[in-house]
Amino acid sequence: MGLFADRIFPYCCDKVMADRQMRRERRACVAQARGTVLDVGIGTGLNLPWYDPGRVTRVIGVEPSAGMLRRAGWRAAQAPFAVDLRQAGAEDMPVDDASVDTAVITWTLCTIPLAHEALCQVRRVLKPGGRLIFVEHGRAADPAVASQQDLFNPLWRRLAGGCNLNRPIDELIAAADFRFEALTAGYLSGPVRAVRYTYRGVAVAR
Ligand SMILES: C[S@@+](CC[C@H](N)C(=O)[O-])C[C@H]1O[C@@H](n2cnc3c(N)ncnc32)[C@H](O)[C@@H]1O
Repeated sequence: MGLFADRIFPYCCDKVMADRQMRRERRACVAQARGTVLDVGIGTGLNLPWYDPGRVTRVIGVEPSAGMLRRAGWRAAQAPFAVDLRQAGAEDMPVDDASVDTAVITWTLCTIPLAHEALCQVRRVLKPGGRLIFVEHGRAADPAVASQQDLFNPLWRRLAGGCNLNRPIDELIAAADFRFEALTAGYLSGPVRAVRYTYRGVAVAR
């Protein structure tokens, strides 16, 4: 693995994904998790400090990048609950059927190459009644912003480690046979609206 993928990109991701607004979104999302949690594309482990140790018993973090996992390991060592990090893509989820109470996906559906397959895997590993909680950026509701997202997506994907600007997150989740218990979408504040349209919610398997 090259220096960029192993060291530089994980370092940059760790900084960019920790900004104040994202931290607030992350905190609100992750606070809803309970029991055995699957953190899909755990990245550098930025969610770990925000899980409620009174409600979460264990976190399984699935992540393909060794460089991201190294940083997640540093945070896992500080966690007051068991953290089990597994190097894999979510499309090949190394997790048993019906073994997870909560699946958490934060800013990762934009990047997973086969997002539908990954969501079907999430459905497989959730226990009956288990919840998928998520916060993701994606396709804007306004046609003008969506057009910009389509235009810049090829360049953005190359610069941002495979991240896509224009995925319709709600449609992707629904297409994997989930129904929404809660769903909101809108812009985070700040410039460049194309990267700020954010979906948050809770879904359960139909
Ligand atoms: C923008 S980062 C978000 C990381 C973390 N979820 C967070 O909230 O900080 C996107 C993550 O998706 C991971 N990723 C890429 N392909 C993936 C796949 N096939 N399955 C799971 N995660 C993947 C990347 O390695 C990266 O860690």
